[in-house]
Amino acid sequence: MKLIFIGPPGSGKGTQAQQLAARHGVPHISTGDMLREAVADGTELGKKAAPIMAAGGLVPDDLMIGIIKDRLSRDDAHKGFILDGFPRTVEQAEKLEGIVAGNEGEKLKVLQLLVPDEAIVKRIALRRSCPQCGAVYHLEHNPPTKDNVCDRCGAGLIARPDDNESAVRKRLEAFHRQTLPVATYYKSKSALREVDGQGPIDEVFERIEKSLA
Ligand code: AP5
Repeated sequence: MKLIFIGPPGSGKGTQAQQLAARHGVPHISTGDMLREAVADGTELGKKAAPIMAAGGLVPDDLMIGIIKDRLSRDDAHKGFILDGFPRTVEQAEKLEGIVAGNEGEKLKVLQLLVPDEAIVKRIALRRSCPQCGAVYHLEHNPPTKDNVCDRCGAGLIARPDDNESAVRKRLEAFHRQTLPVATYYKSKSALREVDGQGPIDEVFERIEKSLA
């Protein structure tokens, strides 16, 4: 499986990609998680990315392309992967083609999760994330067993710093302006599948599996 998830912030890309990766035995590669790790570790990349992410903007293409090139060159990604959060611009999509061109296995599939902006704002307000292992919860739809404690690794859960109202608005704007053209790009190559991202998490998962079958 070589799959790209496209969708607005909070559409469920991370939630679905984690489950799908576990079921299909391929790595889940989230550029957002990679950047948050770099910020937490205080690396040069993290220092550059932190203010951009906090304001809801996009990290420059050259940095992102370098990160993905490195990550996809690792052994575990040679036969398959699920990309969550990349590509986010047409330039990233064009460069990705060159990066995966020599890879063995299946062709790239692209799945767009459709969720309207009003639903996004509600979802993000009640999201909680694990800063240690990246697990994602929702206080209503997917709560942790114990309040504010990660089921998977026991760390305390947080609300992401970019989940405030003004950053979410800016992230939605970036999605409409810079990432929707990526969906159009893949549509023109007949690689795009659109899936309704609303409804219970398990139902969305089954829709995705059906659309990929
Ligand atoms: P990133 O981490 O990729 O953020 P995002 O795209 O804004 O997406 P999110 O992680 O917010 O949401 P999601 O779609 O994964 O939804 P989730 O499953 O959590 O990127 C962060 C930042 O990094 C960017 O803003 C940018 O600055 C930078 N960046 C990253 N990649 C980049 C790139 N390639 N180029 C440039 N910059 C880049 O679900 C959301 C909530 O809803 C959760 O609480 C979940 O439990 C709940 N939920 C999920 N599904 C459902 C459902 N069906 N019903 C109800 N609730 C649900």
